[in-house]
Amino acid sequence: MEFNIAITALPERVVTDTRSLPFGKVPTDHMFIAEYKDGKWTDARITPFQDLNISPLAIGLHYGQTVFEGMKAFSMEDGKINIFRMQKHYERFCKSLDRMCMPRVPQNLFNEAMHQLVHLDSGWMPGEAESSLYIRPFMIATEGRIGVKIAEEYLFMIVCSPAYQYYTAPLKVKVETTYSRAADGGTGTAKCGGNYGGAFYPTQLAREQGFDQVIWTDARNHELIEESGTMNVMFYINDTLITPALSGSILDGVTRSSLLDIAREAGIKVEERQVSVAELKEAFEAGTRIEAFGAGTAAVVAPIEIIAIGDKSYSCYIQADAAMYRLKTMLNDLRIGKTPDNHSWNYIV
Ligand SMILES: Cc1ncc(COP(=O)(O)O)c(C=O)c1O
Repeated sequence: MEFNIAITALPERVVTDTRSLPFGKVPTDHMFIAEYKDGKWTDARITPFQDLNISPLAIGLHYGQTVFEGMKAFSMEDGKINIFRMQKHYERFCKSLDRMCMPRVPQNLFNEAMHQLVHLDSGWMPGEAESSLYIRPFMIATEGRIGVKIAEEYLFMIVCSPAYQYYTAPLKVKVETTYSRAADGGTGTAKCGGNYGGAFYPTQLAREQGFDQVIWTDARNHELIEESGTMNVMFYINDTLITPALSGSILDGVTRSSLLDIAREAGIKVEERQVSVAELKEAFEAGTRIEAFGAGTAAVVAPIEIIAIGDKSYSCYIQADAAMYRLKTMLNDLRIGKTPDNHSWNYIV
């Protein structure tokens, strides 16, 4: 599929200090947009970043028929630009779209749009360590109609924003046992807008209690650890990397999957299984050294300092020799080309 590239009249701006930018607030100069109408994708183009003109009746605005992805491009040691695990993000995007009854974007359109946009806005690639270009592909139902139905018209778009890692200090989290993010058979495995809107209220309550985030538990009994905010949760206990298995209600995180592979290859024992709140509590009370961290594209590896279970707060191990920092370094080294990409995870623009 061919598309036109309209280049902004503004001189390209270059970001020098990503650390001082609020995450996701500053878009790059351009965006990609394609329209879905009459059963096909049309009018794909790259334009200057601008507001959208959509109907107030747009189905996506009322009924949450929206899906998004989040990935990152990195400046490599040799000066090239790497979009990390683009294929895996594309596959998850397709799964989310299927779950929300939205049309898939053809792989070649997705890849070409990503490549062209990142290339065009490459002046926005931060060069500093721990910084990257955050890429947000997303789709919204634009058909204008107040009626609960599957839309027939959509916009697929990609926007980018230079980013430093999302969390800059170790996190205090609370195991959530009243509210739920997702239930069996729900949309927890899809990256759809409603999952996030529904999480705001319990997260806000946790913030008021002094926490940064909640750790979700299973909706049925609130006994099993699920994930946290926009991160999968991982633990390092007794030389073993442990993470909740993909249950059908948590997101199949790309960072999670990458870290598990990296750990296995480094000879670290890995367990993907049910992790119960009771088991964690018992281990903390027995004085076991526990590392806990969130893993996600935006957060990368976010150390957790405090986990509250009920009315008790437990401290996790966050000293400099913790295994999670080694895992983070291994992931970062791979993404910037410091170590070989044996899995073909890097897409060089
Ligand atoms: C709910 C949720 N869980 C986990 C993750 C981590 O996934 P990934 O590593 O693919 O960014 C994200 C972020 O996308 C998320 O939104």
